[in-house]
Amino acid sequence: MMPVSMVGRAGELAELDRAWSTVVAARRPAPTVAVITGAAGVGKSLLVAAALDAFAPRPAVVLSGAARVHSPAPYDWLAAVLTGRDTSRLDLPPDALAWLAQQPTAPRERYAPGTLLRLAVRVVRLLVGSGPAVLVVEDLHALDPASLNLVGELATATDLPALLVVASRPAEDAVAPDLAVRALARFCGVRGAVRQHLGPLVPAEVAEVLTQVYADPRPSGRLVRAVWRRTGGNPYALTELLAAHAGRGPEALLRPAPAPHPPVVAPRRPADPVDAELTGREIEVLDCLVAGMSNKQAARALGISVRTVTVHVSNLLRKTGSASRTEAAIWAVQRRLPVSTPVDG
Ligand SMILES: Nc1ncnc2c1ncn2[C@@H]1O[C@H](COP(=O)(O)OP(=O)(O)OP(=O)(O)O)[C@@H](O)[C@H]1O
Ligand SMILES: [Mg+2]
Repeated sequence: MMPVSMVGRAGELAELDRAWSTVVAARRPAPTVAVITGAAGVGKSLLVAAALDAFAPRPAVVLSGAARVHSPAPYDWLAAVLTGRDTSRLDLPPDALAWLAQQPTAPRERYAPGTLLRLAVRVVRLLVGSGPAVLVVEDLHALDPASLNLVGELATATDLPALLVVASRPAEDAVAPDLAVRALARFCGVRGAVRQHLGPLVPAEVAEVLTQVYADPRPSGRLVRAVWRRTGGNPYALTELLAAHAGRGPEALLRPAPAPHPPVVAPRRPADPVDAELTGREIEVLDCLVAGMSNKQAARALGISVRTVTVHVSNLLRKTGSASRTEAAIWAVQRRLPVSTPVDG
């Protein structure tokens, strides 16, 4: 199935674009903050990606990161940003950089927490340079406390020519709800902060998506309403429904989906937009999470790319209603999913 292009969200895009213009035009550099919240799968990441694509002038620097490791490690956002980046020319102690980048060879417990925070801010300043930059913080709800602290510092840093874009599920879904509430409040207190809460798609927007997929014959009003009710207008639930019925006519959307793999059905949690029906590959990735593997190790074990593992992990988090990899692993263990013996290597 062809990926569906974004519908709606024009107002949000325009507002993000204005925030970017403010950063670009500022006579004295100062961070501007945009906070985007919404339920799992409502389209926060897609909106951020679409906004970034449309920013003119193009940002000189984009630093983007999300929580990624198995056991929440400090400064995970920054470690994600530093992954694959040449930092050899940054004027910072190499072992501090190695520590912040979570390199396995880095010495442990070498710096006091306050020192680390200052070093982390300095790394970001050096990477941003004279900007203008966009700093993207994905999945704030899943971040470790040190990253929340760092991002809070960046939002209020002086002379930082950057737009800080934060995407988060509601704070009550967070790994550390109190800290997430505090971090979100801190962002919203920044002068000129943009605050967006994304809701589900309205029926007309669902109709637009359906028309992208089934141009001829156009989907009927009855079909649109049925699909909207079935998915709650949640774009993720909608794309899953479309994928499950790919290659069949639009009326098939109203019938149960064919199951390519024997699905594992979790008990329905009222807040979940979709049943946790995991594909065979997702169950294999979940096995790796239970075994405590990093995405890289999982990729090697399963013979697929790290990028693909990342996609499976984010789908797993959604489907199991988990805020983190650890929670997903616990979810699997609690439900005694048919987890195979951990793969070696
Ligand atoms: N406005 C939209 N129009 C069409 N498709 C959309 C829209 N928003 C999201 N989607 C699709 O729905 C799926 C979920 O979107 P996305 O990953 O952006 O959600 P999210 O809010 O970031 O979820 P999470 O909380 O899990 O990070 C993606 O496949 C995306 O392409
Ligand atoms: Mg997202």
